[in-house]
This record gives sequence, C-alpha cells and structure tokens, in this order.
Amino acid sequence: MSDSTKKHSATNLLWGGRFGQGPAEIMAQINASISFDKRLYRQDIAGSKAHADMLVASGILSAEDGDAIQAGLDQILGEFERGEIALDPALEDIHMHVETRLRDLIGDAAGRLHTARSRNDQVATDFRLWVREAIDQLDLALTTFQTTLLDQAEAHADAIMPGFTHLQSAQPITVGHHLLAYVEMASRDQSRFADCRARLNESPLGAAALAGTSFPIDRHATAKALGFDRPMANSMDAVSSRDFVVEFLACCSITAIHLSRFAEELVIWSSAQFGFISLSDSFSTGSSIMPQKRNPDAAELVRAKVGRIIGAMNTMMIVLKGLPLAYSKDMQEDKEPAFDAFDSLSLGLAAITGMVGDMTFNIDRLHDAASAGFSTATDIADWLVRVADIPFRNAHHITGTLVKMAEDKACMLAELTIEDMQSVEPQITTDIYEVLSVENSVASRTSFGGTAPVGVRAAIQAHRERLS
Ligand code: ARG
Repeated sequence: MSDSTKKHSATNLLWGGRFGQGPAEIMAQINASISFDKRLYRQDIAGSKAHADMLVASGILSAEDGDAIQAGLDQILGEFERGEIALDPALEDIHMHVETRLRDLIGDAAGRLHTARSRNDQVATDFRLWVREAIDQLDLALTTFQTTLLDQAEAHADAIMPGFTHLQSAQPITVGHHLLAYVEMASRDQSRFADCRARLNESPLGAAALAGTSFPIDRHATAKALGFDRPMANSMDAVSSRDFVVEFLACCSITAIHLSRFAEELVIWSSAQFGFISLSDSFSTGSSIMPQKRNPDAAELVRAKVGRIIGAMNTMMIVLKGLPLAYSKDMQEDKEPAFDAFDSLSLGLAAITGMVGDMTFNIDRLHDAASAGFSTATDIADWLVRVADIPFRNAHHITGTLVKMAEDKACMLAELTIEDMQSVEPQITTDIYEVLSVENSVASRTSFGGTAPVGVRAAIQAHRERLS
C-alpha cells in the first residue's frame, strides 16, 4: 500500500459516526490545520467558555456540566500555555484538540459543549478575536515607532538636509520635517487598523453551521462576554465572510509599503555616497569578504517584507473570490497568510523602530548637501515676486538665467556678485543674499504643514498630544 492510500485505522471520534473507515493519510494531511491553527488556542478556549456560560444561563446546559466544562477548559488553557498538549493531525484542528482533551478530563459532559454551535461559527469567532488582538498589538508597535520618530524629529528640528523630488535636490528642508512625514503615514495606518477593528468586532458565535439554531441561545450575551459590539446579523454571512481578513491584510500591506519606502531611504542615506546617516552596529552587518562593508540588512529586509505581506492579501482575495455561501473548507486557508503577514509586519516595525532610535545623522554632511544643487533657487524667485513685484513665471525665468550663470562659473548662487545678478535683473539688491542661505530658506517656510523649524516643533507637540 502506498503512503497516499494508507488508511487511518480509526474513524474520527467527533464526526466519524457515519464513516466506515478513516481517511487516507493524504486526506488527513491536506485536511489538517492544527500545525498552524494551534495558534488560536486562547481564542478558542475563550469562545468555548463564553458559549458554555451562555448555555447554562439559557437553561440549555446544567450548572453542574457547565462548571465541569469551565474547569476543564481552564486546565486545558494552562496545558497549552505550558506546551503539554500533544498535537495530533488526526484531530484536524484546534477545536477538536480542545474538545478531545476536554473529554479526557471530564468525560461525556464535554460532548454537551458543542450544543447549538458548529466549528463554522467557532472558527469565525476565534479568528475575529485573533485579528482583533493582532490589531491591538500593531497599534502599540505603531505608537512606539511614531514616538521614536518624534524623538529624532525633535532632536533634529533645525537640522537642514536636502529635500528631493525625482531624487534630485529640490529645496532645503529640516530633518525633523522629513521624519514627521512618516509619523503622518503611521498615524493614518493606525486609523485604518482602527476602522478595520471597529468593522470586524461583531460576533459570529451562535450562527451555528450556517442557519442558526433551534436552541434558545443568547447571542447578545456571548457577543458581550467576548468583547464584541454585537452579534452578526445574518448567520450565513457570519460563518462565511472573511472580508475582515482581507481588510486586515490591506491595512498591513499599506503599513508595510510605508515602512518599505522609509527603509529604502535608510538604505540610500546610509550609503557612502550619501553619507547622511550612520546606522548603529546593532542594526548593520558586515561582509564576509569585504572588510570595509557595513550593510543595512535590516532596512533591506524591511523593504522586502512588504512582498510577502501584499502576497498574503492577494492570497486571501483569491481564495475568497467565487466561493459560494456559506462555509467552505477553502476558508481554512485564511490563517497562514494572516499569521505570516502579522509576524512579518511586527518584526519589520520592531526593526525599523530600532534602526530609527539608534541612527545618527551626519549634520555637516546633510547641511552641505542641502546647499548643493542651487537648492535655494526658488527662494530667489519668491524674493523677486515679493520685493520687486515680478510675476512668478517671469521670476522663475530670471532665476533660471542666474542658475545657468552660476553653473557656467561653477559657483553657488550665493557666490554670484551683485553685479552679476543685476546684469540679469536690475531690480535685485544685496538683500537677496539673505534668502540664499539654507537656514533662511527653511525658516521662511512657515505655511501650515511647511518645513520651518517652528512648524516642525508645533507638529511634534500635536503628535505627542495625540499619542498620549
Ligand atoms: N479548521 C477549520 C477552519 O479553519 C474549522 C472549521 C471546519 N468546519 C467544517 N465544516 N469542516 O476553517
């Protein structure tokens, strides 16, 4: 007999009543989810405890059986926590492991726990609880990430660096302002997760297999006991919807995209050619062949993790499309992508937070780079508009001529003589030199949301208040 046709001798204890023989080895293998859904043991036990309490309160289960079930479930929780539960693929999933162990502990009363319930509403409940907790953890991690960014932004509210468009030197900005852009992104990420959490926080428990149940259960009570806002309104939807998983993964993906963009900047900034920052030893690696190397591996991995996270979202969308109502086993494939995306994002967030906290800015180098590339050309044009009342388009043209002149002389704009400048535009006076310094350039950008240190400090304050 080949491996793939080998039969399990025993039929399944929990659903094998109508089966003459057990499943083929390969059937058991494709069917089993315990290798990954063991991660749901806490949620599964919490759901069962709430269900059992409600059964007693509703007069469906005796208080005596209810007590035995509660005590048994508490013990099983401890056993899982201590790693004492042996996992058996023949028992398929976490739900059957818990129930089987409960039967070992308390005997036949264990069989009453599944009254007015199905694994379909059970797993949907467990997974909503899990995603909810995952969101809470990511929310905390996003707060720490932002706090770390705010600390660096505050320390470098006045430090000047080049701002880029097209990765070409554009205008001088402050380091604090650049970092605050990521705080904004992270705060939107948090609010997206919060929206997702609010929408998913309804209880599927009591939807039973798909149609509800004839027992007089109280779904509002179990919903409340599990911290859900309300029971889901339609039993078919309750057992078969997984849009909460897609939405969670979409939130993870967008967050991961933001981290990936930041990670890319860290890679660029830490290169010898840019030399804007140094990553700490704790977040750099060496090369086994080139002794001079200091590689930003952590940043590169954060940049790459987004691939598997978006992959998880795609997986979930593809699994769901075309599934008829209500539950299909396809839905078992919702867990691994979500677990992996959560783990990857948590790790990525921790790593980038560590990098940000430890990194040092090369202030002089940033300042020099900010002055290069005629970065204050816009300030000349603005001066011509403000002081000489020249229309911006003309001012832009005049400034372009000055830039060309500086380029030909291989000097900075500030190094052009007043005679040079006046040969292009006679209304220019020596006052213009003031706007040519990068310090004055950034200090002048006081429009709301602009890069001026005073605005940066106000924004930091506002973020600190939001996060406290
Ligand atoms: N392990 C299953 C899952 O993750 C539990 C639900 C099984 N339901 C069923 N009708 N076979 O989806």
